[in-house]
Amino acid sequence: MKFFVDTADTTEIEALAATGLLDGVTTNPSLIAKSGKNFIQVIAAIAKLVDGPVSAEVIASDTRGMLLEAERLLGLGDNITIKVPLTMDGLRACKTLSDNGVMVNVTLCFSATQALLAAKAGAAFVSPFVGRHDDVGFDGMSLIADIRTIYDNYAFDTEILVASVRHPVHVLQAAKIGADVATMPPAVIRALANHPLTDRGLDGFDADWAKTGQSIL
Ligand code: G3P
Repeated sequence: MKFFVDTADTTEIEALAATGLLDGVTTNPSLIAKSGKNFIQVIAAIAKLVDGPVSAEVIASDTRGMLLEAERLLGLGDNITIKVPLTMDGLRACKTLSDNGVMVNVTLCFSATQALLAAKAGAAFVSPFVGRHDDVGFDGMSLIADIRTIYDNYAFDTEILVASVRHPVHVLQAAKIGADVATMPPAVIRALANHPLTDRGLDGFDADWAKTGQSIL
């Protein structure tokens, strides 16, 4: 499973990139606004911090506008992935871009039929939002399972990029289903490593080692 971080906070991205565990970055207009940074400048900076795909989302709602914005964004780095919404205009833009070798992440996916269209449009990634599904009483993870089944039925190359991840259990469930990528806030990535028994065990090792009076170096 690839781990992407879902943020435009370059400090967080740099720290996670240093772990060697980060495979890419996703952003969206809300995350850009939250960063308080200039969109073009922050995407260009992020593209230099990681080698993996960096999703930059268009804001236009029509295909032509999306393609014009995509052209501008693609100039910011070789690893830029164009993010388009799951609308007919977005799918048309996706088809045009993917036919020209551009990586596209089709976002705001909330149904398996939408995901089927994204794959047919040649998307490199589809971003089904699990947390927002859960928020309204639907089982977001069942959507991931449905998409996995459909994509495997037809050997689609589109990667399932699980988004709107709120906690480690989302990552666990997505990994058991076989999703390709999970994009998550920095805090969730860090929470994946946490376990109280690990902490307790380490405290015990440290206490017992201290009694030996020895040092390794
Ligand atoms: O990449 C999509 C993600 O940022 C949405 O997350 O928590 O706003 O549903 P959330």
